[in-house]
Amino acid sequence: MSTTYFITGANRGIGFAIVNSLAENLNNKVIATVRDKSKAVDLLKLAEQNSNIHIIEVDVGDSKSIDTLDDQIQPFTSQIDIFISNAAMGTIISKVLEIPEHEWLNHYKVNTLGPILVLQKLYKYLIKSDIKKIAIISSLAGSFQAPIKTSFNPYGQTKCALNFAVYNLASELQPEGFIVLAIHPGAVLTETALKTFDIFDARNPQIGGALRSIAITPEESATSVLKIVNKATDEINVLGAISWLGVGVTLGIHGTFVAEIITEITTYLDIYALSIKHKKA
Ligand SMILES: NC(=O)c1ccc[n+]([C@@H]2O[C@H](COP(=O)([O-])OP(=O)(O)OC[C@H]3O[C@@H](n4cnc5c(N)ncnc54)[C@H](OP(=O)(O)O)[C@@H]3O)[C@@H](O)[C@H]2O)c1
Repeated sequence: MSTTYFITGANRGIGFAIVNSLAENLNNKVIATVRDKSKAVDLLKLAEQNSNIHIIEVDVGDSKSIDTLDDQIQPFTSQIDIFISNAAMGTIISKVLEIPEHEWLNHYKVNTLGPILVLQKLYKYLIKSDIKKIAIISSLAGSFQAPIKTSFNPYGQTKCALNFAVYNLASELQPEGFIVLAIHPGAVLTETALKTFDIFDARNPQIGGALRSIAITPEESATSVLKIVNKATDEINVLGAISWLGVGVTLGIHGTFVAEIITEITTYLDIYALSIKHKKA
């Protein structure tokens, strides 16, 4: 039986690595979104080699663009099994008092509202599936327990707001059989992350250096993210959504099965492990 995935921001970074990994299994169908097909050279090449990849265009920061999703999805499928919300931006990192309004709003539109508005469109495709999984790629930067004690705005704030939405979605959609997760993909060596490490270097070389020392490749991150998505069952719904925000609490409440999932996360996502060490210290 085939599984249909829908993933945003698939032309580079972690999103591309996830599509690459999914496409290897011919039982998977992948709807991969990009902002501009003509610039998605690597993904176009991958789709030429793998007929199970279908590329569509959407700007998740633009509701008019999101409105075109139905027309683009319907020729390909009437059902989606797993939604991986991956697209996000982090073009500036600054202090709260120094960020202009348009930057706050752009980041909020893309990182927080984007996944929510896309999900509003995808709901009718996901509800038809027996799998019904929603994996939102978030970030430790949006956690109050993040070990990185430095300004991480506006990106961190928008991921924090996204986590709140995921937490609510997990309980709102649980009665219908959905599994909703927020996943921190690790400190991953992508173009955007490397720029971020440079910014941290300029502020405090220790932070940039620490992130570089635990960084993993997009391929390693994709493997871990897919492992978590595939392993997630209803037992980790709701609190699974905030699993990486409070490992101790989650383990205490949820017992063995969740402990296994958390071990997977800590094993594969280094920065998560770092947050636990930080907590114990
Ligand atoms: N890398 C890390 O260390 C790290 C750590 C924690 C969390 N994350 C999260 O992991 C996810 C992927 O990160 P990454 O490092 O792979 O990022 P990346 O290399 O910067 O890729 C971001 C992807 O999102 C797309 N995107 C950006 N704005 C968009 C918009 N308005 N509409 C549609 N697509 C848009 C980009 O498309 P374009 O090419 O068109 O810009 C690109 O495909 C993000 O959610 C990020 O927050 C990453």
